[in-house]
Amino acid sequence: MSDPTVSEDALAHSERLRQLILAQIAEAGGAIPFWRFMELALYAPGLGYYSAGAAKFGPAGDFVTAPELGSLFAECIAEAFAPVLQQLRDDPADTGDTHVLEIGGGSGAFAGDALAHLAALGAAPARYAILEPSADLRERQRAHLQQRLPADLFARVQWLDGPMPSDWRGVLFANEVVDALPTPRFVIAEGQVFEEYVTAGDDGGASARGFSRTLQPADALLSSAVRHIEQQRGAPFPDGYRSEVLPQLPYWVQAVSGGLRRGAMLFVDYGYPRREYYRDDRSDGTLRGFFRHQVSSDVFALPGLLDLTASVDFTALAEAGTHAGFDFAGYCNQTSLLLGNRLEQRLAAHEAEAIDEAARYALRQQAKKLTLPGEMGEAFQAIGFARDVDFEHAFLIGDLSYRL
Ligand SMILES: C[S@@+](CC[C@H](N)C(=O)[O-])C[C@H]1O[C@@H](n2cnc3c(N)ncnc32)[C@H](O)[C@@H]1O
Repeated sequence: MSDPTVSEDALAHSERLRQLILAQIAEAGGAIPFWRFMELALYAPGLGYYSAGAAKFGPAGDFVTAPELGSLFAECIAEAFAPVLQQLRDDPADTGDTHVLEIGGGSGAFAGDALAHLAALGAAPARYAILEPSADLRERQRAHLQQRLPADLFARVQWLDGPMPSDWRGVLFANEVVDALPTPRFVIAEGQVFEEYVTAGDDGGASARGFSRTLQPADALLSSAVRHIEQQRGAPFPDGYRSEVLPQLPYWVQAVSGGLRRGAMLFVDYGYPRREYYRDDRSDGTLRGFFRHQVSSDVFALPGLLDLTASVDFTALAEAGTHAGFDFAGYCNQTSLLLGNRLEQRLAAHEAEAIDEAARYALRQQAKKLTLPGEMGEAFQAIGFARDVDFEHAFLIGDLSYRL
């Protein structure tokens, strides 16, 4: 990808990261797994896409997430969570504080709007914790929330360096985080499972990147994950089939949710149930880059300036959540999730307060972007889990669990 509007500074930044990745490749004896390339491209301290100061979110950035469009998304999620927090708070047999844990807080937009609406519903948690690996984003979240929230609510926000201490009660939320987890890529050749590695050297693509691909036999964890998928799709993958899989997902879900003794979890992301994810015609996977609202399959381009992402296998997420000891609560698309959690009422409330027709138009546009099938409504999906609380009320519309 070449873009004449990329500044010299940005190109120099990307070049520093490219050199760091090349050094790691040399140190590893000539090749690193693709997931490691993605990890460095996104999270190398001070240089990776999420670790450095690029705009990322919103119209000036590379992509717009649902919470960035306005407050409606976060308010509907708060409507879904409020009864859980109230249930926990009002249970005389189980006293103690309730918490919200948000994983991957982005610009802080979700936290601000969700916490404000939870407070309006009388369900503000004692603590709103954010697990955010990027120091740059943590600072951005702090600045946004300090300005967005009244002091008593801002005082409840905390940033975690690791998972919550064990034995907490409350709700866990992650929007567009699982798609950003560094993912291994597998390739089938002569019926065997191989893992894609990245080496130094030009891959002969449209422009010289200094990287190329190579294959190594997959280890036992990756091979068994791929064989498990083949069993479920009812046929082996054909030779040449390439895709992504996250064998580490159950460990990651266990790590972030393990200490949640009572409560609910909700993950929203783009993806598919497994049978659709690994369709025969999706034979080159779902990995892609985002740069200034344009999608690119050239994932080696401009490391550090390009967001890399892979769609989520929601069946894998369902397995990971239940293996972590939670009950499955529901699975639906974003439209159903929002409509089932008072989107129309929230929209009407904001419209009634809007200062003019332009503001009302912007609100309706926001609701359309969140829900129309050609926008975010169908591609984005939500999956929920509960442990010792009722969370099925959040999934009363548009059940898709039969597709998992
Ligand atoms: C695409 S952004 C989404 C941000 C936000 N949730 C939103 O919807 O606007 C991905 C976020 O996940 C964070 N993230 C990535 N890997 C993570 C991990 N292993 N644990 C916690 N957060 C992570 C990133 O730093 C970033 O804040």
